[in-house]
Amino acid sequence: MSGFSYPILPSGHLLAIEGLEPPHISALLDLAESYALLNRQGKTQRDLLKGRTLINLFFEDSTRTRTSFELAGKRLGADIVNMSVSTSSVNKGETLLDTAATLNAMHTDLLVIRHAQSGAPALLAQKVDAAVINAGDGTHEHPTQALLDALTIRRRKGRLENLIVAICGDVLHSRVARSNIHLLSAMGARVRVVGPPTLMPSECARLGVEVHHDMRAGLDGADVVMMLRLQRERMNSGLVPSPREFFRFYGLDAAKLAHAKPDAIVMHPGPMNRGVEIDSAVADDAARSVIGEQVEMGVAVRMAVLDVLARALRRNA
Ligand code: CP
Repeated sequence: MSGFSYPILPSGHLLAIEGLEPPHISALLDLAESYALLNRQGKTQRDLLKGRTLINLFFEDSTRTRTSFELAGKRLGADIVNMSVSTSSVNKGETLLDTAATLNAMHTDLLVIRHAQSGAPALLAQKVDAAVINAGDGTHEHPTQALLDALTIRRRKGRLENLIVAICGDVLHSRVARSNIHLLSAMGARVRVVGPPTLMPSECARLGVEVHHDMRAGLDGADVVMMLRLQRERMNSGLVPSPREFFRFYGLDAAKLAHAKPDAIVMHPGPMNRGVEIDSAVADDAARSVIGEQVEMGVAVRMAVLDVLARALRRNA
């Protein structure tokens, strides 16, 4: 991989998509594309992160993000520690900042954090010397998910500009939706959000997206249909009547998908609630669903992010 003439992540961290400029996003996607090709060929660069330590600090459950950061770090030669929060001193009352200070004293180079509180990774970034990567914070952002989604779309559609992307379901609680709205809007896509009024955030107008409460209108002519998980664990009141009722109006099935373009792709960040926000027949339709490719691109994107942040560490070493 060749060097870059400018810093792709100028802050030295990846805390959010909001604030990244289109050339930075394109450079990350280009680098991730090259890692995707190397991964498919079984060739990986094993020494880029040699001697560097990456800690995965997940305060919320994860399958895809945590595993792919571990794989990405290993493929680049880093030493990886998956800290088990459930058996750590967090359970004895240690605060996030004291945990951070402890990890800092161990000279961690890269800290990947998922936390239920929006802003936790940004707070940590002020307190530690490591490069901090936001792996999902509350309802705020999930930047690497948006990057892997964008890479998947770009591979399938050849571009992001002028595509109609419908993001559907529980937008209110979705950090995936927020990161995707920032990224896709910055890259010139037309973003629609589709869902019941109770699951729409008030900042939709500020974010410059089209809002639809009817799936037929929201999916009409869409190039990309991105379904979101119904996050019942973040709801403290009954925002939807029942999963069955939700599926009837907002679950993606073949009949609703027929309103999108005939070659529209179907995406879901996972984990999926089959029969709630998406029908199994659509999720498993190899002609339309790119859900498996999203997971594959997750490793490549995380390799690219670690690569870029490690270069900045070397510059500062
Ligand atoms: N998409 C996503 O963040 O999945 P995990 O919760 O499994 O990491």
